[in-house]
Amino acid sequence: MSKIDPACIVNSHTEWDPLEEVIVGRVDDATIPEWHVSGKAVWPAKHWGMYKEHAGESFPRELVMKASEELDNFSQVLEMEGVTVRRPEVRPGDFDRPVSTPDFESVSQLYAAMPRDVLITIGNEIIEAPMAWRSRFFEYRPFRSLIKDYFRQGGGWTAAPKPEMSDDLYVPEDKWQEGAGKFVTTEYEPVFDAAEFTRMGRDIFVQRSQVTNDFGIEWMRRHLGDEYQIHVLDFEDKNAMHIDGTFIPLGPGKVLVNPKRPCITGNHKSFFTYQGETKEYALPDMFKGWDIFVAESPVLPESHPLYFTSPWTASCNVLLLDEKRVVCEASEEPTIRKFKEWGFDVIKVPFRHFLPFGGSFHCATCDVRRTGTLQSYF
Ligand code: ARG
Repeated sequence: MSKIDPACIVNSHTEWDPLEEVIVGRVDDATIPEWHVSGKAVWPAKHWGMYKEHAGESFPRELVMKASEELDNFSQVLEMEGVTVRRPEVRPGDFDRPVSTPDFESVSQLYAAMPRDVLITIGNEIIEAPMAWRSRFFEYRPFRSLIKDYFRQGGGWTAAPKPEMSDDLYVPEDKWQEGAGKFVTTEYEPVFDAAEFTRMGRDIFVQRSQVTNDFGIEWMRRHLGDEYQIHVLDFEDKNAMHIDGTFIPLGPGKVLVNPKRPCITGNHKSFFTYQGETKEYALPDMFKGWDIFVAESPVLPESHPLYFTSPWTASCNVLLLDEKRVVCEASEEPTIRKFKEWGFDVIKVPFRHFLPFGGSFHCATCDVRRTGTLQSYF
């Protein structure tokens, strides 16, 4: 049984089917969120002062402007490759004002730069994620006119239960300690970010992270029902947030992995050398026979500001336009070389000014439609 219609305006099952229509974010008016333990769990320590002292202010304006130009250029490149691009709507004052609900207050909101974080398309449905940061409570708003439009044209639309985000959702700052297996979010209510899930047809992979709890994963499992299998993978990553800098499907039988964050989930082991050390990568048995491509280290200079992430998004967070074409960051030469060796056609797009805001091409987009049907690849 499958109610999924491949002709629906919203239709996407994998990270690699031919991309027809995509949402590309906007970084305009990006605002510094307030200091909170949920950020402490993932934000690079060298920027903590910025969050403590400048919450509610704009991120450096020059950088926002350049990042915005990069997004426009990226959108044009996608159009030239035959992809329809839609953009969210950012209205003045959307982000630099406080949020207040019966359960919490936050001095500001964030941005509409990362559609991948807040929206996920599974089959004919767009799901709005119950995000775990207070500054992201209303992040669906800039995308609502697009989602309504897709709904009118026959697309599915679900908003997962909005979290309360009271203090019960978080480990208090004085009790929270960084370390593998320690999460800053509790199981008070379901939370997840959409970018925590990665799609390979009937099999969907997710990690428990600093913004995605078991309750949230269970919500998704029950929501999707019997047609899908949700697999929880565990990686060595004490700041885990969003799977698309860690484990990136590249096609049937192919996956890109981050050598710094080995998978520690199953019995199917592969080995590789990273910085002179032999690393074991342990996936569930279902990956037997799959090609494990090891990502190249990013070449972004140490001094490059990255407010939210590690530098690995520069080399790992690629966007596939189909099984052959991949969008890579234009200065990441080693990554570009590797993808060519692996048989891909590389589309080089400059994106260095966008990276500081928390991701690269995969994060900055959300699939609306990829040609294809629901299949099993295992
Ligand atoms: N947590 C990842 C890292 O630090 C970044 C993932 C970004 N992904 C996203 N969808 N915003 O490398």
